[in-house]
Amino acid sequence: MKVESFFGLVNIWYDSEPVNVAMVLTITRSPPPHIPSAFTINNNRNGYSANHHSHSRLLLLLNECADMSQLKQIHAHTLRATTTHNPHALFLYSRILHFSSLADIDYACRVFDQIESPNSFVWNTLIRAYARSSERKEEAILLYCRMLEEGIVMPDKHTYPFVLKACAYLFALFEGRQVHAQLLKLGYESDVYVNNSLIHLYGTCGCLDLAQKIFETMPERSVVSWNAIIDACVRLGEFDTALKLFGEMQNMFEPDGYTMQSVIRACAGLGALSLGMWAHACLLRKCRAEMVGDVLVNNCFVDMYCKCGSWEIAQQVFERMPKRDVNSWNSMILGLAMHGKAKAALEYFDRMVRTERFVPDSITFVGVLGACNHRGLVSEGRHYFDMMITEYKIEPQLQHYGCLVDLLARAGLIDEALKLVSDMPIKPDVVIWRSLLDACCKKNAGVELSEEMASQILESEGEDSSGVYVLLSRVYASARRWDDVGLIRKLMTDKGVTKEPGCSSIEIDGTSHEFLAGDTSHPQTKQIYQVLDVIKERLESVGHVPDVSQAPLIDELIDEKHHALRLHSERLAIAFGLLSLKPGMPIRIFKNLRVCDDCHKVTKLISRIYNVEIIVRDRARFHHFKDGSCSCMDYW
Ligand SMILES: *[C@@H]1O[C@H](CO)[C@@H](O)[C@H](O)[C@H]1NC(C)=O
Repeated sequence: MKVESFFGLVNIWYDSEPVNVAMVLTITRSPPPHIPSAFTINNNRNGYSANHHSHSRLLLLLNECADMSQLKQIHAHTLRATTTHNPHALFLYSRILHFSSLADIDYACRVFDQIESPNSFVWNTLIRAYARSSERKEEAILLYCRMLEEGIVMPDKHTYPFVLKACAYLFALFEGRQVHAQLLKLGYESDVYVNNSLIHLYGTCGCLDLAQKIFETMPERSVVSWNAIIDACVRLGEFDTALKLFGEMQNMFEPDGYTMQSVIRACAGLGALSLGMWAHACLLRKCRAEMVGDVLVNNCFVDMYCKCGSWEIAQQVFERMPKRDVNSWNSMILGLAMHGKAKAALEYFDRMVRTERFVPDSITFVGVLGACNHRGLVSEGRHYFDMMITEYKIEPQLQHYGCLVDLLARAGLIDEALKLVSDMPIKPDVVIWRSLLDACCKKNAGVELSEEMASQILESEGEDSSGVYVLLSRVYASARRWDDVGLIRKLMTDKGVTKEPGCSSIEIDGTSHEFLAGDTSHPQTKQIYQVLDVIKERLESVGHVPDVSQAPLIDELIDEKHHALRLHSERLAIAFGLLSLKPGMPIRIFKNLRVCDDCHKVTKLISRIYNVEIIVRDRARFHHFKDGSCSCMDYW
């Protein structure tokens, strides 16, 4: 047995880079003449005292060790053959610790506590085990603190990636920044792995600027660095930046599965169908077999195609997947629900559960209930809600309640919806109140009920109440009580409440163009407004009268007299689409808010007048407009 083989053995378990274990490795002799091949240890009394022969034999056995029960035997022999404070035995114990840290973390803890003077390698082993555990990540940070407090061994560059990973997982930005300060103090910023972990931490915690700063100052970057920064951008919705970085990365590195997942998510976020298809083609052309069949990558594709408006391609990808997991089914069901394909979504659910025997999770039911909701299937909605609780023992979350409340409220069953809300064990959120208020508006349930509801929300909401003001202004607007709308507007200004502005985007030739309501910043603004004027004339000629009761933006309500309503962001995007796309090409629009009633009507008319297919993804779902009607059948 050679010393090198020990290096080999150690190398595998730090996935970052070879670790210098010379300080703990003291075995330099040739192997003992007799090494038992099978898992039998001669109860050799001579080996009772510490000696190098039994050390190397035990190491060899450790190397072949298959499970915890074998490990416990070896551990027992080690305890007899040596003492824990014998420096020669430290390596042996660190191996035992390593093995048990993968299989039984509590056992590893006890081994750790027995080691008298652990070196950084031993500390790192346990910190890493905690960082990788599913439920005890915070103990990685605590153990790191203990290491610093004891101050006998200082953390090294291998300690930091693990601690930072735990911080990232726990969104522990405050702790993460302290760890960052510490590692700077100790001079570990010259390590690529440490920097990659920092990018990941800041990206996960929403500090993209910090992540970018580190990325930009890195003299050398690895694939992991690029993946970390691209992932950070995607997480924070900076999809354009993510794709730009991806372009730069390609000049230097071959993207891997992680890169592709981020890129596909960016395409999904942008609704950039052609870009997503390009990424797909790229993957297929390179014939990266391990990626083509990768479940996670394919799940991203299913999700991306659905979000980019093409559930048909999503379905093809799904059907061709060599292997599927619960998330594959979830992506497909959620996607179909989003497109209002309730029947298909429920069929997939049936196939998933009955034929393929997958156990649905909480997200599956968000999809199933969403499908019922988008089609107004009240009795089915109730049925699946009950099934989730009784059959699958899944506790309903806000999203599930939200779906059912919305479904009931929109079907006019306001009393049942209210009862459900009052029986909820969790605090209803503004989405649920909005459903109820919406329903009240539509059913003309009376301004009083709505006001009462709104005042209740305002009491419980505290700071984040912008949604309620907007809702209430809509109630007043539909009752045409403009004075009260003005009052709300003033209240919002006084309290500094702002509202997310409406924004629509359209992708033309791989470039995404964004429009805000009343936007005049696009280089082709003049032509766009000319198209809008033509549209207005043609709409008037077919007898369209603008309806402002549902306008979601207060500012636009106030400007109603100035006909600002036609400038809702999706109108600008549609006009730009008509201007730029070849005839016959469908117009795909992505809007961050819900489509208002008037825009919905107008889009239907435009699809007929211009004989063009228009696919709009709003905050909640997809609308496919064709020949003057919409796939949502005016139920949304
Ligand atoms: C790590 O990032 C710091 C900036 O935080 C930079 O100064 C350092 O050069 C980077 N080191 C490596 C090896 O990337």
